[in-house]
Amino acid sequence: MQPPAPSDKTRDLREFREVIRSRRTINFYLQTPVPRKLIRDAIEAATWAPNHHVTEPWRFYLLGKEAIGACVGLVRTIVTDKKDAKAGEFKAKNWAEKPGWLVVTCRKSNDELTQREDYAACCTAIQSLMLYLWKAGVGSKWTTGDITRDPRFFDIVGIDDDQEFVVSMLWYGYPKVTPVQSRKNLDDVLTELP
Ligand SMILES: Cc1cc2nc3c(=O)[nH]c(=O)nc-3n(C[C@H](O)[C@H](O)[C@H](O)COP(=O)(O)O)c2cc1C
Repeated sequence: MQPPAPSDKTRDLREFREVIRSRRTINFYLQTPVPRKLIRDAIEAATWAPNHHVTEPWRFYLLGKEAIGACVGLVRTIVTDKKDAKAGEFKAKNWAEKPGWLVVTCRKSNDELTQREDYAACCTAIQSLMLYLWKAGVGSKWTTGDITRDPRFFDIVGIDDDQEFVVSMLWYGYPKVTPVQSRKNLDDVLTELP
């Protein structure tokens, strides 16, 4: 397939840029369900991310009610053990309000460079997925909290700890609140060489 032909439709490009720039990490969601087809399409599109040697190192786990309930119970336990029961309850309540749960893993490699490149590929796939959802009006949040390294979480999700590690637990849903963010100026992060 050819790359898109150079276009004089600069409006398309401006809109594309705006999708990238306006995407925000969403903490608070409406309870309106996200169509299963949309999330499946987003995952399928994400698998077209660049990946060195076409290793396709990603795996996606779309959680249903039962698995979500088990994760909420687990985070309650984790936080209660780490802090106290009140904090555990608060966290569980907060997590129970996340409408959509998607776990993204990366295959493990013994080769350091391959591992770095596979991880990088998974991150690009996740960004593509988040942008696809954002364009469809669906927000998301990438998390790497303690739970994503907990063997009890692997059991709930069916993750093979010998073969893969969690890159992201991604919550998704229609945003209730979209936060404001800022970034450094371009010239603070860009060096242009002659
Ligand atoms: C690898 C990675 C891990 C992240 N883990 C967390 C997390 O554990 N908790 C959290 O609140 N946000 C997490 N985030 C989201 C960032 O906090 C968020 O992207 C950042 O605040 C910038 O906001 P924006 O996404 O709206 O631009 C993570 C983002 C990335 C890329």
